[in-house]
Amino acid sequence: MVRAAMQNLPNEMPPDASASPGNGLPGETRAQLDQVFQWFNDNVAKLEGAYKDLGVKFDKISQELEEKNQKLEASFSETDRVENQLRSVLESLDSSVVMIDTEERITLFNRSAERIYAMKPEDALGKSYAEVFRTQADAHFPLIETLRHQRNLLGHEKYWKIGGGGKPIGYTTSVVKNRDGKVLGAVEISTDLTNIKQMQNQMQHAKTLAALGEMAATVAHEIRNPLAGIGGFAGLLERDLEGDDPRRALVKKIVQGVSSLNKIVSNLLVYTRHMELNLQRVDFIEWMEEILNYAEIEIAKENKDIAIARDYRFERMEARIDPEKFQQVFLNLIFNAIQSIEGKGRITIRADLDEKDFLRIAIIDDGKGIPKDIMDKIFNPFFTTKEQGTGLGLAIVQRIVTLHGGTITVTSEPGRFTRFEIRIDTRGSVHG
Ligand SMILES: Nc1ncnc2c1ncn2[C@@H]1O[C@H](COP(=O)(O)OP(=O)(O)O)[C@@H](O)[C@H]1O
Ligand SMILES: [Mg+2]
Repeated sequence: MVRAAMQNLPNEMPPDASASPGNGLPGETRAQLDQVFQWFNDNVAKLEGAYKDLGVKFDKISQELEEKNQKLEASFSETDRVENQLRSVLESLDSSVVMIDTEERITLFNRSAERIYAMKPEDALGKSYAEVFRTQADAHFPLIETLRHQRNLLGHEKYWKIGGGGKPIGYTTSVVKNRDGKVLGAVEISTDLTNIKQMQNQMQHAKTLAALGEMAATVAHEIRNPLAGIGGFAGLLERDLEGDDPRRALVKKIVQGVSSLNKIVSNLLVYTRHMELNLQRVDFIEWMEEILNYAEIEIAKENKDIAIARDYRFERMEARIDPEKFQQVFLNLIFNAIQSIEGKGRITIRADLDEKDFLRIAIIDDGKGIPKDIMDKIFNPFFTTKEQGTGLGLAIVQRIVTLHGGTITVTSEPGRFTRFEIRIDTRGSVHG
C-alpha cells in the first residue's frame, strides 16, 4: 500500500506543471523558477528511484519473511509431530511414567500411571507429588529422593498403598536434564508387579509340589515291598490263630492298617508317576453315563439317599480326551461330592459347550461345602479333612486336567453347595 501511494505521487501533480512553468514572468524569476523546477524534478526522480529500490527491497524482505514463516511453520509442525509421537508412546506404554519438576510438582502422568495409582490425571498434574501421595505410610518417595540427591535408582521395588489394599510396584527413577545439563526434574517409570509376584508364588508352589512328589514316590516305592511282606505274614498269622483267639482282632487291625497304607501308596504312585495321555475322540455324554451308572451303584451300596441329576446342554458333545484318565477325574470329584453329603442330597452334572468350543463340565453338590480358610489347600497333595482320606484325589484331578490343557475351578458356600468346574478344549490340546 505504502509503495503504491508513493509511486502515484508525481502523477498527482498538475499535468502541465513541468511543461509550461511560470509563463509571463520576468527573466530572473523565471530562471530561478526553472532552477527550482529542475531541482524538484531531479529530486522527484531520485525519490522515485529510491522508492523503486525500497519496493524491490520490500519485495525481497517479504519474500524472505514468507520463506522464514514457512520454515518456522514446518519446524512447528515437526515439533508438533515429534511431540505427538512422544505423547502416544508415553500413553501406550504399559509402564507408568510420572515426572516432577524442580519444585516437585507433577508435570507428567501417563495413562498407565492412572491405572497403577488408581488416580485421575487432573488429581495429579500440577500438584505437589508429596501432597498427592501423602497417604503412603512411610512417606518415602524415591522420585523426590532422586531429584533432591541427584541419584538415579534402578530396578527397585516398593509397596504402594492404594485404596484399601496395596500392590507391589517395581520402579526405576532418573534425573531429567536438558541438553545443557540443567536439571528439569525427575522421572519415575514403574510397573505393577502383582501378577509377576503371583506367578512367582505359583512357581514356587509348583516347585515345592514337584519336590514333594518326587520324595513321596521314592518313599512309596520303599514302603511297598515291606508292606506287602507285613500284609502277607499277617494273613498267615490270622489263618493260624483259633477262631476265638483274642489275638485275631489284633491281627485284623494289622491287616486293615496294611490295606489303608496300600491305598495311600498306590494313590501316591498314581499322582507322581509320569503320565502319558492317550487321547481319543469320545462322545462325552455316553462316556459320562458309564461313570454315573457306576457312581449310582456305589451310592446304593452305601445306602445313601443321593440323586444324580444330568443337565446336558447339547445332545452330542464330542471331546478329545484320555478316557481312562478322565474317568479318574470324575470319579474323584463325584466321590468327594458323595462324601460331602450327609443324609439326603443331590449331585448335578452340567455340561455345556462355550463359544470357543470348550467343553465346560460342572459337578455341583448340595453337601456341607468347603470352608473359606481351606479353599486354597484342597488341591495340595496329602491335604484332607477326612479321617480315611489320602488327600490325593484333587491333586490327581488337577494334574490330569492340566495335562489336557484344561482348567479346574471351584466355588463353594459352606452349608449350601460346592461346585467344581472343568473347562477343556474339545479339540484336545496336551500340555506338560
Ligand atoms: N465336594 C466337596 N465338598 C466339600 N469338601 C470337599 C469337596 N471336595 C473336596 N473337598 C475337600 O477337599 C479335601 C481334599 O480332597 P481330596 O484331594 O479328594 O482328598 P480326600 O478326599 O482324600 O480328602 C477334602 O478332604 C475335603 O475337605
Ligand atoms: Mg477325595
